[in-house]
Amino acid sequence: MVRAWTAQTGKANHPDKEETMAQELKKYWQNYIDGQWVDGVDGERIAIENPATAEHIADVARATQADVDLAVAAARRCYNSRELYNMRPTNRGILMFEIARHLTEMADEIALAECLDNGKTLTGGRNEALAAARYFTYYGGLADKLEGRMIPLGADYVDYTIPSPFGVSAQIVPWNFPLQIAARSVACALATANTVVLKSPELSPLSTYFIAEACHRAGVPKGAVNILCGFGHDCGAYLSAHPDVDHIVFTGSLKTGQSILRAAAERVLPCVMELGGKSAGILFKDADVDQAINSSAAGIFSNAGQVCSAQSRLIVPTSLHDQVIEKLVAKVASLSIGPGIEEHNITPVISGPQADKIDGMCLAALQAGAEAATGGGRAEGMAGHFIKPTVFTNLTPDMTIAREEVFGPVLSILTYDDPEEALTIANGTDYGLCAGVYTRDLATAHWAADRLVAGQVFVNEWFAGGIETPFGGTKRSGYGREKGQEALLNYVQTKNVGIRITDGGGGRPGG
Ligand code: NAI
Ligand code: MG
Repeated sequence: MVRAWTAQTGKANHPDKEETMAQELKKYWQNYIDGQWVDGVDGERIAIENPATAEHIADVARATQADVDLAVAAARRCYNSRELYNMRPTNRGILMFEIARHLTEMADEIALAECLDNGKTLTGGRNEALAAARYFTYYGGLADKLEGRMIPLGADYVDYTIPSPFGVSAQIVPWNFPLQIAARSVACALATANTVVLKSPELSPLSTYFIAEACHRAGVPKGAVNILCGFGHDCGAYLSAHPDVDHIVFTGSLKTGQSILRAAAERVLPCVMELGGKSAGILFKDADVDQAINSSAAGIFSNAGQVCSAQSRLIVPTSLHDQVIEKLVAKVASLSIGPGIEEHNITPVISGPQADKIDGMCLAALQAGAEAATGGGRAEGMAGHFIKPTVFTNLTPDMTIAREEVFGPVLSILTYDDPEEALTIANGTDYGLCAGVYTRDLATAHWAADRLVAGQVFVNEWFAGGIETPFGGTKRSGYGREKGQEALLNYVQTKNVGIRITDGGGGRPGG
């Protein structure tokens, strides 16, 4: 399907072969610190792998503590210069529109990088580029709309609030949607005049460099956005514990989130935490079952299930169980597995260790008595890291596979007899990111949506919503909201200014 991409991009002579495409990818990528592309201070590199083939495709400069120090210092200098803050917010917005324009112009290159580095389809990679651009236009448009309040205190005072930036925002991004996730936090930071040090994920950093490139081309002040790649245990941990960081945004695993929060507690830093989920859709008896099956398949099999908001559980009435399984198995049979560059439905997972982890969870589920209606572990005989689309049944809600995040194309089916029981199962994990309801009845939809413990509820379409709609977790899925107007509120704190303007009497001019 490279041809489809070729048609879209107008690159008429684009070769059909993955190897030739890979040759077009830049072989060495540097960090972006203080407005310059630089090697790591230690001169070390991180090898980048194509998860569809397990081949080494490029290297990136490896940032260690010394690089983090340089980046934080650059971000601090830029913040202290007040260059972003003093700019008229409308103009900051226009600068962000420029970033969006450059990202859009680079969409083909981004698509290729995201396909070969991350495993996505070229279409998916292109969509990432366009979504990233959209974050900059959306928040660029809001840059001049974040207003304070005037609080009446009578004639002798003027009192107003200022939505003030925090300062240096440290942003740690995961590997499943590195570009989009980086774009949303960088865009919010720039809209509110914070400066950024972003650590890209060592498993798929390439697309995030395009944000740096777009910022560079747009003329963003140097030091305002710094992007570097390093390992979590040294670079990530050091950045999140850095004494000169004022604010942390993290998306990733619960365990890493908890360790960042411990470090943040030392400095009492505000954090935005998005820590995954085990989100359930509830199928009600009156639902359009075919619609629910299609939505569920999109909810769990897109991006090989490596989606924090994936629909990893489906809770069905016992009476509909066999019908649902039959339809899901038929749906899975229609999905192709293979490299993203060929536009397959099920693309690879990010790395060998992630595939091992998922395969191990599937095996443990089978040993615990789960039944695989289809799939059930690694797709054998493929060079890359592929997991078969899997549907588990014969489960109880307390089984690990039905409680823990798998982060692969693995759906758990659970059954209920009473709607209250469905809610109890849906709400019965430590997580609370998303939830879904399949019904034709609006009253049922609202009854369930109101009781589901989750940051967002999808009715009849998993992932309904977008950049404009607030997104985030409850319980151990984290806190803070991303996307939508709400996200900006994570990037500012209210400063109140109370002014005594007269010495009494309302300030009537004398004479
Ligand atoms: P992770 O949470 O360790 O990695 C995410 C990011 O955090 C990466 O940039 C990594 O370098 C960084 N990091 C790792 N350790 C750090 C530390 N001590 N301090 C600061 N930053 C650190 O996730 P991992 O191990 O790659 O994946 C394991 C599981 O986590 C997955 O199977 C999945 O269940 C979950 N996960 C959830 C994501 C989500 O979107 N909610 C994204 C990625 C993983
Ligand atoms: Mg990779």
